[in-house]
Amino acid sequence: MKINLSNIKKAKKLLNKNECIAVPTETVYGLAGNAYSSIATKKIFKLKKRPISNPLIVHYNNLQDLRKDCFTNSTFLKLYKKFCPGPITFVLKLKKESKISKYVTNKRNTLAVRFPKHVVLKYLLKKLNYPLAAPSVNISSKLSAVCSSDVKEDFGKKIKFVLEGGRSSIGIESTIIDLTKKPKILRLGGLKINKINRVLKKNIIKDINPSKIYAPGQFKLHYSPGLPIRLNAKKAKDNEAYIILKKTKTIKSNYYFLSKDGSLKEAAKNLYSTLRKIKNSKFKSIAIKSIPNEGLGETINDRLLRASKY
Ligand code: TXA
Ligand code: MG
Repeated sequence: MKINLSNIKKAKKLLNKNECIAVPTETVYGLAGNAYSSIATKKIFKLKKRPISNPLIVHYNNLQDLRKDCFTNSTFLKLYKKFCPGPITFVLKLKKESKISKYVTNKRNTLAVRFPKHVVLKYLLKKLNYPLAAPSVNISSKLSAVCSSDVKEDFGKKIKFVLEGGRSSIGIESTIIDLTKKPKILRLGGLKINKINRVLKKNIIKDINPSKIYAPGQFKLHYSPGLPIRLNAKKAKDNEAYIILKKTKTIKSNYYFLSKDGSLKEAAKNLYSTLRKIKNSKFKSIAIKSIPNEGLGETINDRLLRASKY
């Protein structure tokens, strides 16, 4: 993707003034602000209507910058080498001398960090002398945004600027791994768990539905299009939209296909945009045909299950 320098300049100018802007990432669009600024990060919570107790992910351009704020360890370095930049978020221990705003972490001594791959965001991060706190740009518990028009649809003029970056190539949030203790997965996401297992040479523990909530992605209702969802439906009722993994020969007006050939990667990429299309259609409820619970299918099912707690 070609970088539009005047857009980057505008983004930088607003961020330097402690404003929040929407930025593209390869997973989903984010609502970004200077992670070292309490003024900027407070605005993120307000715009998203996000409870202050839910900490934000901070986006870095490189390892050198991360080391100003966090301790790294050997597990982190192995995963970093293999998967960064990319759709993985690490929870690490925060250094005492770090300048990260206390609003980002809600006074925790840990920090969620990510190295985004999107060329536009990477270019912007390089031009800034602070990292960017950026949760997914959606109203809390609602659908995430995978292109600039999604952001405009949800926020209108409330967000001062949306940095254009085309459609997110992965289309679903990053996988979160906690490395502050024994490694564990806190959120399923765009990076498959078996790829992480292969690098660490063990089966990593999943803690995606804990009794104590660490991450909003673990809340029961999340990623919701605001319509009732029926999972594992063999058939759709007349007035229901029907989401099907693989395109079928029969095409009906209520059929929505996530992929041409059953690819789970393509399906993950199309999930939020399909739910958004249905939300904006005449259908008032959604039925989903079962999706294999493996690889990215597990992430898709996780999102659909949470979205169905309507
Ligand atoms: O792909 C992504 O990760 C996107 C893009 C924009 O980077 N961001 C994203 O942010 O999904 P958000 O805020 O919607 O989800 C971040 C998750 C939340 O569930 C939050 O609770 C968790 O990360 N988190 C943040 N800091 C944490 C910490 N110190 N310990 C545990 N979980 C943390
Ligand atoms: Mg989110």
